[in-house]
Amino acid sequence: PNGASVPVLVIGTGYGGAVTALRLAQAGIDVQLVEMGMAWDTPGSDGKIFPTSSAPDQRSYWLRTRTKQPVSNFFGFPIDKDIPRYTGVLDAEEFAGITVYQGRGVGGGSLVNGGMAVTPRRDLFNQVLPTVDANEMYDVYYPRANAALGAKLVDPAWWGSTPAYQYSRVGKKHAERSGFPWRFVPTVYDWDYMKAEAAGTATKSALAGEVLYGNNHGKLSLQKTYLAQAAATGRVNISTLHRVTSVRPVSGGRYAVVLEVLNTSGTVTATKEVTADKVFFAGGSVGTSKLLTKLKATGVLPALNGEIGKGWGDNGNVMCGRANHMWDPTGSLQSTIPTIGIDNWDAGGAFAEVAPLPVGIETYASMYLSITRTNQRASFSWNPSTGKVDLSWQTSWKQTSITAAKSIFDKINSKEGTIYRTDLFGGYKIWNDTLTYHPLGGAVLGKATDNYGRLHGYPGLYVVDGALIPGAATVNPFVTITALAERNIEKIRATDF
Ligand code: FDA
Repeated sequence: PNGASVPVLVIGTGYGGAVTALRLAQAGIDVQLVEMGMAWDTPGSDGKIFPTSSAPDQRSYWLRTRTKQPVSNFFGFPIDKDIPRYTGVLDAEEFAGITVYQGRGVGGGSLVNGGMAVTPRRDLFNQVLPTVDANEMYDVYYPRANAALGAKLVDPAWWGSTPAYQYSRVGKKHAERSGFPWRFVPTVYDWDYMKAEAAGTATKSALAGEVLYGNNHGKLSLQKTYLAQAAATGRVNISTLHRVTSVRPVSGGRYAVVLEVLNTSGTVTATKEVTADKVFFAGGSVGTSKLLTKLKATGVLPALNGEIGKGWGDNGNVMCGRANHMWDPTGSLQSTIPTIGIDNWDAGGAFAEVAPLPVGIETYASMYLSITRTNQRASFSWNPSTGKVDLSWQTSWKQTSITAAKSIFDKINSKEGTIYRTDLFGGYKIWNDTLTYHPLGGAVLGKATDNYGRLHGYPGLYVVDGALIPGAATVNPFVTITALAERNIEKIRATDF
């Protein structure tokens, strides 16, 4: 309530926020979580919590009046449609040079993501987080994170025979025939549940195209893992449809936190102020960076250092599709949960996940999301004339990523005698180079913060999410975000409480 005073307030309920809440609560500390999105625990009039993937509705998008699907066209025809403005689950947040997809609601990105739980190659770790001890991470914190997230590998025998992974097997075959190493990657989908979906004994989710607008079953989102454990401590409270707009120091080394209460149309219906001893920023790379950039620039937190808003990257994300021959169908049934990655990091700077195109009919398309090596980094800055935070990313910077991805797919196309699809992203584009699913950085570890996420200039303020990671993770990022949060909160709990 307005005027309340709490020991710990955590802004955001994604990976960083969930880890922080659980570990502090287990240590006997009461935690107040604040989430601008919805709880996603109540079915709509169709009996489902999340909408049908083939029929996006108001639940699909965060405060948009038209869908913005990553694959925007099918056989050249645009597929986006008008929807009512609502506090839906997927935010396609548009900056000048890039659209950043993010989850909104209790669980953050875990509500909408593909569930690929990938640990970076150990030999690449010091490129990801140069100031962090790799031994500690690989011996303690990655295993702790993977266990708590429920990351597991698919049963290779089932994978090898189910129609739902025909598209993966085609992707693997083509990688092998061009000499590229590939590997299975763990996921946080319940594999027994998916087997039951395939057998027709459980309500379909991954096998019904669900992922981008939430999985009604099967996926171990944070609501089922970290946040369930946190709730069980009895020490964690979550306020939904509450958006933090300001954090300022007040007497006694405490902080006043200003919150806007939203209705499901996104209208602010009330404003509250609470005080906290400690505030953890866990709004995700973009959410945390925007807030800190604004608070520094507007003189609310003037002692934050010059690294705030810097070092932001897109994890080198770029998407493409290939057109297979008639003898290489990818299947009309495609599980939405990817299972394999093609590793050409050393030779070409690309790690490509074989992605589904779950449209329910045979497309002969192979889809890929590549994560690539790129040194392009953007900065957030406060724009006083619009009252918003801008991002300096330029679309042309994706050329490095396209070149890296081509190191895999040009070779596969030439080996297979195939071509790229030009009908999926509009305007005959081969590369979807206008988006990222993996925003990282903006309050980088060891720069904007100390080596454990303590913000410089303000004791009691911490960053605990993807904003800490300097722009790239070499693989899908949530396991690294989770493991880093585990490492940092262990230190902070031991020394700052
Ligand atoms: P995260 O974004 O998860 O959580 C931040 C939360 O804070 C959000 O719920 C937000 O609403 C809230 N918030 C922000 N500002 C706030 C404010 N001012 N007040 C109150 N609340 C606020 N990764 C991966 O490893 N494997 C994968 O397969 C995929 N696939 C994938 C698909 C899609 C479609 C997306 C969009 C993303 C992925 N990802 C992924 C990326 C992954 O989901 C992402 O890296 C993490 O969710 C980031 O975790 P964080 O804790 O940093 O923030």
